[in-house]
Amino acid sequence: MSFLGNIFKSDKLKEPVDLSLIGTDMHSHLVPGIDDGSKTIEESIELIKSLYDFGYKKIITTPHIFTDYYNNTTEIIIKGFDNLKLAISEAQIPIQLEVAAEYMFDDSFIKKYRSGELLTFGEKYILLELPAFTPPNELLQTIFNLKIDGYNPILAHPERYSYWHYNMEHYASLKDRGVFFQINLPSLSGYYSSQVQKIAEQLIDNNMIEFVGTDLHNNIYLNEVDKSRFSKHLEKLVISGKLLNKTL
Ligand SMILES: [Fe+2]
Repeated sequence: MSFLGNIFKSDKLKEPVDLSLIGTDMHSHLVPGIDDGSKTIEESIELIKSLYDFGYKKIITTPHIFTDYYNNTTEIIIKGFDNLKLAISEAQIPIQLEVAAEYMFDDSFIKKYRSGELLTFGEKYILLELPAFTPPNELLQTIFNLKIDGYNPILAHPERYSYWHYNMEHYASLKDRGVFFQINLPSLSGYYSSQVQKIAEQLIDNNMIEFVGTDLHNNIYLNEVDKSRFSKHLEKLVISGKLLNKTL
């Protein structure tokens, strides 16, 4: 390519990726008022309508269960979700809704797991996030135990754990243990940082991604989801045939 050709070569698509090809979003914070996501039922309705307009057919929303910040229980989540479901049906938005949770990997997660009260979806999938600054010591052993018990752990946004950014072997070791990976659409628009975007793209290039999620909290995230539709890596991921979102 000529010098001028390189200057004008865009890393963005001209036409957005059709998100109906993803089908199901399985990571969002849309049960109002119980975590750092949507604050009101009206905000949730608007956000869900926007996901529907992007082409999503189904949403599995996943409130935080993170004892130090959002001490949600299964009962709190189900009660809030039932209200949301009713409001969406009254607003006549023809989208399927389910609820599960995004579990922070902490002591209370391990206790809940031992007592058998985990919220799962699909093939006993469980959405897990890790602490921001240090990987937990018990991670590999707990992953092993979860798999033995028939759970399928999905690691939420692996691209955001900066302690692994300079050693991709950590990601490979989790893949070897049967962990599914879910990247966030806002990572592909550069919302968190260019480094997070780079790692998300690298994980796609290495064929390590099975799920993609919006991690939708509010309108700021919605704008990022909108922008991410022009990512060449998203297009690559969608046409790879590796995504499992539609199986949910
Ligand atoms: Fe999340």
